Amino acid sequence: MGIGTEDPMDVDMANSKMEWDTAEGLKLSAALQWKGKAGGALPVKKMGPWVEKYRPTNLSDVAAHKDIVDTIDRLTGENRLPHLLLYGPPGTGKTSTILAVARKLYGAQFQNMILELNASDDRGIDVVRNQIQDFASMQSISFGAKLNVKLIILDEADAMTKDAQFSLRRIIEKYTKSTRFCLICNYVSKIIPALQSRCTRFRFAPLEPIHVTERLRFIIKEEGLTVTEGGVKAVVRLAAGDMRKALNILQSTQMASPHVTEEAVYQCTGNPMPKDVQAICHWLLNESFTTAYENIQEMKSNKGLALVDIVKELLAFVFEISMPPETRAQVVEALADIEYRLAFGTSEKLQLGALISAFTHARVALVAVAQQFLDTVLEMKSCASSKPYY
Ligand SMILES: Nc1ncnc2c1ncn2[C@@H]1O[C@H](COP(=O)(O)OP(=O)(O)OP(=O)(O)O)[C@@H](O)[C@H]1O
Ligand SMILES: [Mg+2]
Repeated sequence: MGIGTEDPMDVDMANSKMEWDTAEGLKLSAALQWKGKAGGALPVKKMGPWVEKYRPTNLSDVAAHKDIVDTIDRLTGENRLPHLLLYGPPGTGKTSTILAVARKLYGAQFQNMILELNASDDRGIDVVRNQIQDFASMQSISFGAKLNVKLIILDEADAMTKDAQFSLRRIIEKYTKSTRFCLICNYVSKIIPALQSRCTRFRFAPLEPIHVTERLRFIIKEEGLTVTEGGVKAVVRLAAGDMRKALNILQSTQMASPHVTEEAVYQCTGNPMPKDVQAICHWLLNESFTTAYENIQEMKSNKGLALVDIVKELLAFVFEISMPPETRAQVVEALADIEYRLAFGTSEKLQLGALISAFTHARVALVAVAQQFLDTVLEMKSCASSKPYY
């Protein structure tokens, strides 16, 4: 999990010196410099990626997933830790949780008692046969650690080859007495059923807004930031349950503007603001094809918006507008097609045309339904007036 690949923020890598340490997470040397807007280094307190600075070290720091954390905690306390399979979307705390468990179990013996392999390590069949088997078969001396079995963490296990997974089946069984395995992945379907059945599965769902908000407020306080209520809400909304994303958005916005407001968050991430999406929706439903096209194109270039972000945001509005179910289904299908085509790098202008076309069709359907409704009302009225009065 390299910082260069997943962190959208601007780090001066040339002057950076980082050491990766499984016990402490990413240790950033004092030489690591974050570029502020003016290009200067930020105060020491604000240095370093917050995702690592605020990686939970204890189980109590893990936001949400209380039931999972409590269950794992109880099992380890009773010395009954099973093989684990933690799965779920990115940034929900899978790696952090198991590292916190390991830290609690092994304390100072952390380094000797765990073997952590992730996607950056080669994990073909040779690694399973050699590295994993060697570690599992090694005699372990726990020196007072709570658990005297070793722990092998296979992070991003969905990237393991099928051969490696098959050969792991036997090893898991053979060394169960001395070793526990913890497999972590995003896509559980990529783990062979035989391995799944050897592990106790825990699903890490996207974090609830309330938990993301709580954790953000804690970090805002720690860092002494000025963040408006709208700013927090915008970060929570854009993160969509991914705590890593929330921290990255908060940190990058704070670097771009000292006051983290709703507008600053949307501007920094390049996402359209709700009021912009509302305006776009209004044009799509009320203006002519040409006017809608020109207005949206102008907004896109003025605010630097990507069509794919507009399309994603429009979905929520489509659910809010009252329309017949078939029409809604057609619009949603069209939005999905446009998003799919945009993912393959097709022309934004053409896809914008397709978006307006989808809403034009919806308008025609809406007008037809309204006309039908009007006709029915008029018919009922005329029937009522022609009835004889007794
Ligand atoms: N439940 C959580 N509580 C507190 N912080 C969290 C939580 N989940 C994620 N984070 C924050 O996000 C960062 C990344 O979390 P972590 O590496 O545990 O995610 P993950 O679920 O393993 O994601 P991936 O599937 O991408 O590996 C952590 O360093 C931490 O700052
Ligand atoms: Mg992880």
